[in-house]
Amino acid sequence: MHTQNPYDLAPSREVADQLLSQMTLAEKAGQITQVEKNSITPEDVAEYAIGSVLSGGGGNPSPNNPETWLQMVRSYIDASHNSRLGIPALYGTDAVHGHSNAVGATIFPHNIGLGATGDADLVERVYRAAALETTATGARWMFAPALSVALDPRWGRTYESFGDDPELVSRLGAAAVRGIVGETSNGSSTALASIKHFVGDGGTAWGSAGPVEWLDFWDDWGDGWKIDQGDTRVDEKTLRAVHLYPFHASISAGALTVMASYSSWNGEKIHGHHALLTEVLKGELGFEGFVISDWLGLGQLDPDPYLCVVKGLGAGVDMVMVPFEYKDFISTVVAAVEAGDIELARLDDAVRRILTVKHAIGLFSSFAHQDPSLDLVGSSAHRVIAREAAAASAVLLKNDGDLLPLSSGEILLAGSGAHDIGNQCGGWTIEWQGSAGQTTPGTTILQAFDHHSLEFDVTHSMTGSFPEGSCWPVGVVVVAEPPYAEGNGDSADCALPADDLQAIEEVRARVDHLVVVVLSGRPVVLDAVADQCDAMVAAWLPGTEGSGIVDVLTGTRPFRGRLPRPWLNMWNRGHGLEGRR
Ligand code: GLC
Repeated sequence: MHTQNPYDLAPSREVADQLLSQMTLAEKAGQITQVEKNSITPEDVAEYAIGSVLSGGGGNPSPNNPETWLQMVRSYIDASHNSRLGIPALYGTDAVHGHSNAVGATIFPHNIGLGATGDADLVERVYRAAALETTATGARWMFAPALSVALDPRWGRTYESFGDDPELVSRLGAAAVRGIVGETSNGSSTALASIKHFVGDGGTAWGSAGPVEWLDFWDDWGDGWKIDQGDTRVDEKTLRAVHLYPFHASISAGALTVMASYSSWNGEKIHGHHALLTEVLKGELGFEGFVISDWLGLGQLDPDPYLCVVKGLGAGVDMVMVPFEYKDFISTVVAAVEAGDIELARLDDAVRRILTVKHAIGLFSSFAHQDPSLDLVGSSAHRVIAREAAAASAVLLKNDGDLLPLSSGEILLAGSGAHDIGNQCGGWTIEWQGSAGQTTPGTTILQAFDHHSLEFDVTHSMTGSFPEGSCWPVGVVVVAEPPYAEGNGDSADCALPADDLQAIEEVRARVDHLVVVVLSGRPVVLDAVADQCDAMVAAWLPGTEGSGIVDVLTGTRPFRGRLPRPWLNMWNRGHGLEGRR
């Protein structure tokens, strides 16, 4: 079933064909090349007519702030205008929950929290704010939203998914795309979305992942990974109904790039899967944008780098996130076309798609004169939206004796998530894996209590160690999964850190009533917790605006969140978890 995108691409396709007729084979190869920013100079972006530059996770300028981001991005894009034909390069970054590599940007709840809101309008406003902050620093391409239907919570990318319900993912994914693209009349769209990862990334089997023996990138890449980038072992009917389903609505909403999945379908790598990338996505769905590979994704297709390029481009990958050895890649493409291993028509189709998209989003006209509104980055208006989203994402799992909402008074506050922006934000924040600590401006849960109008007298100890013999009416322990990204987050037990479990014990002994707030990228095992507390809240990864969580704890805002996926019932049966969809 053809999925109509909202653009009128005909004028852009004419421009693309006109440029294509002037391009040399080497320039065509350069146009399908995406390089990570530390691996290329602006001069070589012009010299090799590079199509795109990206910041991978943590690909930041130093120092890292909105101004240096704009300078960095501009250095590459302005250089691309100096190539022989002056085709502007696209700059891409993982703005997956705000412009999340940039210090000072507003960091919104990760998708699993947005899934708990179930609120398409709110999701659209979140992604619009993220797009405005990202493009204000010159980066027009956001590698978002993920349309993963995450079925196994042991997956390290569960939090990048809106949930395990294809309908919910479809509805919120399309809302995110609308937020990113804004107006779709040619030349005025805000940013370029990249829906990912096509297809079936959230349905892989536990134990089906592991290192690619011929890839020596990162010593530990893939070591210890159990499910990320693994094998989705389902029949075609299930693949279509569960994992392909969300892509229809997002293409209709204006997504013009699709990122291929590292995973496999019944043993065949998606990056080399012609039936899915070309016959289904471009043929059956009528997708008119372009397919981008994932980082080193082609390198997983074959021990021979030449065959990786032949197989990937032949399958339907249009632009390749190389991301390092761009000279080798370009010469390989030229050699493979000259040898007839890659048909020139396939390369031309890839270049035409890329140029059509660049023209459709106004890249040939608007960027050079774009007035960067850097004051949008981290603006109070955007932080208000993030605070609203954090509050709306919180799910009330338990509330014995209607302990919540809390009134004013003395509170013991403990746990690794009580006063830690990094733990509030999780992975894909400033650094690829994220990190604990005050990594970027925001409001921690402790600070939100301190500034609350209800006058709380808070005694805080992360470990829960307080003076002996003391006793308080209420304790709040904010437990947190340490940040992680991708396969580094694959977890056999989805357990909370032992220190946080200890903090619960410490506080339990000193308070009349105990609230546990869970900061996590997925449902975690709460067996040891559920019986010890009177109230329990799933806060997911709320981002920089911890005030949103305190808003629901204190009744400033009501609890609205609903579980976007079952909460590990196999481990928590019988604890009366009241979470509802
Ligand atoms: C990563 C991820 C992908 C991301 C890309 C660029 O490996 O799989 O989601 O957009 O590389 O950082």
